[in-house]
Amino acid sequence: MNKFVFFGGKGGVGKTTVSCAYGLRSAREGLKTLVVSTDPAHSTSDVFDQQFGDEPKAVEGYDDLWAMEIDPDEEVERHMQEIKRTMSDQVSPSIVNEIDRQIELAHRTPGAYEAALFDRFIDVMRDSEEYDRVVFDTSPTGGTLRLLSLPDFLESWIERLVKKREKSIDLYEKAAIGEREARKKVADDPIIARLTERKQMFEFAGETLRNDATFFLVLNPDELSIRETRRAIGDLSEYGLGVEGLVVNKIAPEPDAGEEGTGAQYLRQRHDTEHERIRQIDEEFPEPVVARIRQRVEEVKGDLLDDVAAELDIEVAPEVSV
Ligand SMILES: Nc1ncnc2c1ncn2[C@@H]1O[C@H](COP(=O)(O)OP(=O)(O)OP(=O)(O)O)[C@@H](O)[C@H]1O
Ligand SMILES: [Mg+2]
Repeated sequence: MNKFVFFGGKGGVGKTTVSCAYGLRSAREGLKTLVVSTDPAHSTSDVFDQQFGDEPKAVEGYDDLWAMEIDPDEEVERHMQEIKRTMSDQVSPSIVNEIDRQIELAHRTPGAYEAALFDRFIDVMRDSEEYDRVVFDTSPTGGTLRLLSLPDFLESWIERLVKKREKSIDLYEKAAIGEREARKKVADDPIIARLTERKQMFEFAGETLRNDATFFLVLNPDELSIRETRRAIGDLSEYGLGVEGLVVNKIAPEPDAGEEGTGAQYLRQRHDTEHERIRQIDEEFPEPVVARIRQRVEEVKGDLLDDVAAELDIEVAPEVSV
C-alpha cells in the first residue's frame, strides 16, 4: 500500500468512519499513522471522542495513531491573508484597498475553498516524513484536480513575465550593472519567485498523487451514491489517477425468514433494494469492492471501530521498494 491513502465519496456515506477504521488498522499493525480530516463537522473528534485541531495530535488510547482536522473556512481565510500580504508588498499603498477587495471577492468563489484546502493537503504531504501512513478522509474532486494542470500553465506565464521583466529593466541600468546582473535581478523578482514556488508545489502534488497515493471510494447501496462514484472515477482518471477499490458502507441487515412484522417487512424490502444496487455495483465497476460494511444501530466509534476495521479487505503493509 502507498503511503498516502484517500477515501473519497459523496457527503455522509462514511468517509470519515472508514478512514478512521483504516487508520486504526494501520496503527495496530505498527505503522505510525496520521488521519487527516477535512469536514467542517469535525467528525474525527466524534469518532475518537477527543478534540483535534490543525496540527497532528496523538489519539488517546491507541498507539501509533495520530489525527488532525483541517477547517476549510479557516484555510480560505489564511490563504486570503497570505495573498493580501504578499500583494501589499508589491503594489503602491494607494491601491492596496482595491486589491484587497478583489482578493476577498475571489475567495468567495467555490473554487477558492477547494484551492485553499488542496494547498493545505500538499503541506501535510510535504511535512509527513515522520509518518508511515497518512489517511485523508476525502479525495480530490474534479475542481481540485484541475489545479494539477497548473504547472504547465504557470510555466508559460513565468516565461512571459521573465521576458517582460528583462525588457523592462532599464537600458541604462543594464549598461551600469551588466547583462548578468540584470538577469539576476529578474530572478530576484518576488512575483516570479512566488509563481515559481507555486509551480513547484503543484508539480510535487501531481507526482505524489501519481506515485505515492492510493484512492478508494466509499459509497452506499443507493443510486445517488453510485452516480457520484461514477463521476469521481471519471474525474480521477482524467488526471491519470486510478481507483484501487470501492467500499460499500451502511448495508441493511436481512431479517430472519419467518419474521413478518411491519419492521421486518420494511427491512426485507430495503435489503432487496440494496441487494440489487450492490449487484449493479459489482457488475458496472471494474474496481473491486474491498469491503461491504453493515449498517450499525449506532454511530461507529469505540469498539465498533475495530469491528468495522476488521471488515475492510484492504492491505495495510507499506509498499516495499525493490
Ligand atoms: N456502517 C455504519 N453503521 C452505522 N452508522 C454509520 C456507518 N458508517 C457511518 N455511520 C455514521 O454515519 C454518519 C456519517 O458518517 P461519516 O461521518 O463517516 O460520513 P462522511 O462521508 O465522512 O460524511 P461527510 O461527508 O459529512 O464528511 C456518522 O454519524 C457515522 O457514525
Ligand atoms: Mg467526513
